[in-house]
Amino acid sequence: MTLSIIAAISINNTIGFKNTIVWNIKQDRIFFKNITKNGVVVMGRLTYESLLTKPLINRVNIILSRNKHFLAKNCLIFTNIKDMLDFIKKYDKIFIIGGSQIYYQTIDIVDKLYITFIKKNYIGDTFFPKIKEKKWKLVSEYIFNSEYSFREYIKK
Ligand SMILES: NC(=O)c1ccc[n+]([C@@H]2O[C@H](COP(=O)([O-])OP(=O)(O)OC[C@H]3O[C@@H](n4cnc5c(N)ncnc54)[C@H](OP(=O)(O)O)[C@@H]3O)[C@@H](O)[C@H]2O)c1
Repeated sequence: MTLSIIAAISINNTIGFKNTIVWNIKQDRIFFKNITKNGVVVMGRLTYESLLTKPLINRVNIILSRNKHFLAKNCLIFTNIKDMLDFIKKYDKIFIIGGSQIYYQTIDIVDKLYITFIKKNYIGDTFFPKIKEKKWKLVSEYIFNSEYSFREYIKK
């Protein structure tokens, strides 16, 4: 089983504003789709709502919510991270897809980070945790153009 985080972040670590993503980068959406295809995606309830409450197709969708009554069609709901981690053990490819609350709670337990790095400052209200150099090794960077690149990090 490989547990990864996938996120798009700006220079100032912004990931979102008012429960939406502030940039519109088609290549990033393609990258996200290709990497997560046929895997399991785990997200917080707010991120799920930002997707207009539709599950992502061709993926097992898991939502974290502390609300025991929360339901979402064709999605699995967990009320805590521990139970979610126990459940996903049987899968090969698991991706934590956000948002900020979930990234902060899982960055220390994932094996890999897929980061679209956007070389611009954005005003935001949700942020990605600091990627600490002593913990993470940058193993590849595909510089798509002068505005963004796709980075892969593995845990040191
Ligand atoms: N740039 C990117 O790559 C990217 C990716 C994803 C999302 N985003 C952005 O991130 C923002 C949303 O992030 P966010 O931090 O506000 O919200 P979030 O992490 O998506 O969801 C937070 C919710 O998750 C649930 N939750 C959190 N910790 C939990 C736990 N330990 N156990 C069970 N449930 C738990 C709670 O739901 P309940 O309140 O229901 O209990 C909480 O309100 C949006 O702007 C979105 O567009 C950006």
